[in-house]
Order: sequence, then C-alpha cells, then structure tokens
Amino acid sequence: MLSGSKVGLRARHEDDIPVLRTELYDDVANASRAEAGPWRPVSPGAKDPRLFVDDKEQGRVPFSVVELDGGSLIGTANLWGIDTHNRNAHIGLGLLPSARGKGYGTDVVAVLCHYGFVVRGLQRLQIETLSDNFAMLRSAEHNGFVREGVLRASAWVMGEFMDEVLLGLLARDWKPNP
Ligand SMILES: CC(C)(COP(=O)(O)OP(=O)(O)OC[C@H]1O[C@@H](n2cnc3c(N)ncnc32)[C@H](O)[C@@H]1OP(=O)(O)O)[C@@H](O)C(=O)NCCC(=O)NCCS
Repeated sequence: MLSGSKVGLRARHEDDIPVLRTELYDDVANASRAEAGPWRPVSPGAKDPRLFVDDKEQGRVPFSVVELDGGSLIGTANLWGIDTHNRNAHIGLGLLPSARGKGYGTDVVAVLCHYGFVVRGLQRLQIETLSDNFAMLRSAEHNGFVREGVLRASAWVMGEFMDEVLLGLLARDWKPNP
C-alpha cells in the first residue's frame, strides 16, 4: 500500500465495488461531472471497467483510497493514459461524498505524484477538471500543479457546455510533502 499523511492507496477489493458503484457512479450528476462520456446505468453483475481491475492493462493503474486511521474505504484514484515513451500520465480521483472537504483529496494527489514520479519514473503528470471544480483545482495546486490552459466548452455536462482546466506538474518542479 502507498501511504500519505491521511490516506492509503491500496488494491481494489471485491467488496469495494458495490460501495463505489452506489456512492460515485449511480449518482448521475457526480458521474456526469467526473467522466468524459454520458452516464448510463450499469447492471450489478456487469464488469464495469471503471471499477473492475484488469491487471493486464498497462496504461492504467487503479487504486482504492482508504483512511489511514481505521482503513475505511473513502474513494477511488488512478493513474491513467500512462505513456512510457514520453513518460507522462494523467491522474484522476473521486471521494465518497462523506469524505470530501477534509483534506483527503490533497493527500491523494500527493500520493499519486509519489507513485508517478518515484515509483514509475514519469516526468510529467496532468489533470483535467471542470473549471468550477474548486476543490480539485486547489488539491492539485497545493501539490505544485500549474494551470496550463483552458479547454473552452470542451465538456457537455448535464445540459450545458463547460470549460475544463488543464493542469500539469513536472518531476523537476515537484516538492514532496507540500
Ligand atoms: C475533488 C475532490 C477529489 C477534492 O478532494 P477534497 O478532499 O474534497 O478536497 P480537500 O478537502 O483536500 O480540499 C482542497 C482545497 O479545496 C478547497 N475546497 C474544498 N471544497 C471546496 C468547495 N466546494 N469550494 C471551494 N473550495 C473548496 C479546500 O478548502 C481546500 O483548499 P485550502 O486547503 O486552500 O483550504 C473531492 O471533492 C471529490 O471527490 N469530488 C467529487 C469527484 C470529483 O470532482 N473528482 C475530480 C474529477 S477531475
């Protein structure tokens, strides 16, 4: 397991799946904001690629996020789009509603940076988020990510086009333990 100051990132367990599905992906508004595509219902037994882990897939590393204190499941995090030639990847995370606003998101980003830069030897990490996702923007900026651009009207979300902000962090600019 990877540890930060408040959270741990561990492998996905079978019994995480119904919790993550109910709390994150059955919530149409949350899922529509967090994903690039349209929300659609997923049957309980289906192998939803957002939740089931395919260990053969080299380009994506999914984690379940737990509280260090007690080990309760609080969300999901992943490194995706891993490009071993250009040595870059994207990061993504989603916390259960009850776990938001407590500093966990900032710590999850810190642990993903450690995994990307130290464990995987990447040189650039990238985040795309909706321009009104202040908690995500702040979580990224607390870890040294800088805003590199705005993708105007790039996301169709629940009836409107929204801007996305692209943030990047280079290994040479990263300071562990922000
Ligand atoms: C985005 C998310 C991961 C952030 O994690 P979090 O634990 O809620 O964020 P933190 O508690 O670490 O807060 C980070 C900063 O954002 C600020 N913040 C939190 N919620 C906020 C809000 N609703 N409005 C404005 N600022 C907010 C905090 O004050 C903190 O800033 P500060 O340290 O300068 O005070 C989490 O809210 C979440 O899972 N949201 C739903 C899914 C999602 O949006 N995922 C990202 C898709 S790209």
